[in-house]
Amino acid sequence: MADESHALDTPPAGAATDWTIDQDWQHYTAEEHATWDTLFARQSQLLPGRASEAYLRGLDVLKLSKPGIPDFAELSERLMKLTGWQVVAVPGLVPDDVFFDHMANRRFVAGNFIRRPDQLDYLQEPDVFHDVFGHVPMLADPVFADYLAAYGRGGQRALGLDALKYLGRLYWYTVEFGLIREGDGLKIYGSGIVSSYTESQFALDDPSPNRIGFDIARVMRTDYRIDDFQQNYFVIPSFDELLRVTVETDFAPLYEQLKLQDDIPVAAIVAGDDVMTQGTQRYARMKARG
Ligand code: PHE
Ligand code: FE
Repeated sequence: MADESHALDTPPAGAATDWTIDQDWQHYTAEEHATWDTLFARQSQLLPGRASEAYLRGLDVLKLSKPGIPDFAELSERLMKLTGWQVVAVPGLVPDDVFFDHMANRRFVAGNFIRRPDQLDYLQEPDVFHDVFGHVPMLADPVFADYLAAYGRGGQRALGLDALKYLGRLYWYTVEFGLIREGDGLKIYGSGIVSSYTESQFALDDPSPNRIGFDIARVMRTDYRIDDFQQNYFVIPSFDELLRVTVETDFAPLYEQLKLQDDIPVAAIVAGDDVMTQGTQRYARMKARG
């Protein structure tokens, strides 16, 4: 994620100055490849009818159904031809400026490690399943590919404007946890949802969370949770519209306005919201009670 704090500020031993490492595909064990295959089988069965067309097309054209953890070199070759993006390996979280520089230059940084077999359902740090299965299919879509590259440049700008908190929320509520209106219903496209067995059902079917029409300023004011299902999802009308409105809006004056306003608590509905579902918030209440 773009707005987390990082313990290290120089690359660890073995990493290049841009923090990339060799994926070293040969080092994965049979058990690690099997973990990928288990996760892949479960998610790819669940997603038709739930994930956006663009996501499902990406999964298909990138041949992610090939057994085993994908080889980034091979994946990058396919992706490069489609949208000019590559996938590069990093040891874990990288500093914000490094993250944005890669992104602005169409390099998607992906974690190298895979979760343990006892962590199939939930893991807070992004592993190769989240990063590759969750994010990379959307990068095969030309419009989304442009959005993420523009986001990288927006990140470099936000660093200078001391506004990463606001821009990070845009990433969270689109790239990680976004919903889209498609045909007669809602579909998921956010990587944190499509890579999660439980949240890919919860985000669409559960009466608990709010589902609110996407609005840049609203999203940038809204807190989020990193430890459990979201209490709000924001719904875009189309990827074209997401790209258009984010590229055409100058964020600098918006950041200045937002700095004068209060943040919106995770579950609140506020005046002006385009509410598609007013959530019961039952799930979050249950969890809080323990
Ligand atoms: N328009 C944004 C700015 O002025 C840049 C941006 C574009 C950010 C697309 C995110 C996505 O900073
Ligand atoms: Fe992610």
